[in-house]
Amino acid sequence: MSEEDVDRNRRHFLAVATAVTGAVGVGFVAVPFLSSLKPSARAQALGAPVEVPIGALEPGEMIRVLWRGRLVFVLRRTEAMLGKLPGNDDSLRDPASAVTEQQPDYAVNEYRSVKPEFLIIEGSCTHLGCAPIEDFDVRPAEGWGGGFYCPCHGSKFDLAGRVFKGVPAPTNLRVPPYRFVNDDLILIGQDKGAA
Ligand code: FES
Repeated sequence: MSEEDVDRNRRHFLAVATAVTGAVGVGFVAVPFLSSLKPSARAQALGAPVEVPIGALEPGEMIRVLWRGRLVFVLRRTEAMLGKLPGNDDSLRDPASAVTEQQPDYAVNEYRSVKPEFLIIEGSCTHLGCAPIEDFDVRPAEGWGGGFYCPCHGSKFDLAGRVFKGVPAPTNLRVPPYRFVNDDLILIGQDKGAA
């Protein structure tokens, strides 16, 4: 393993450790808060949709949010990122999103999204649930056009969360239900009228 590989693995490990620490921290805060609620309010808090402002998100920028305790990635894709997607098809396990459980019907399209520019996917690897890491650098020499990498066992996904062949993850990253409230705001967890 080269020094560069070791450095990259260390970065991936630190990123995962940070994500796990963050998730545990939320859990410690959330549990006492939730237990103080009445049953109906608790159910609502656990399942409530999450509003995510996206107006300030720059092209190429990604934010992470929590919905029902699950990590969700919101990525504003650039034109260049979108342009990479059709060329990946032959290398993907499920390029046309045929596994219906992995996305709502309105995300069964080339971009796996309501609006091509915005990708909303769960940050949970479909192998054993680790958090994939964004790797948007294009490296033609490696045949890499940008996407997501899972450091746990090496699964790779493209910029639409579609899994590449030959990795442990069996399916594409999951698209949660969501809808656009307006151009600057999305609601994750509720999709009535999204299409
Ligand atoms: S959990 Fe992602 S590759 Fe195993």
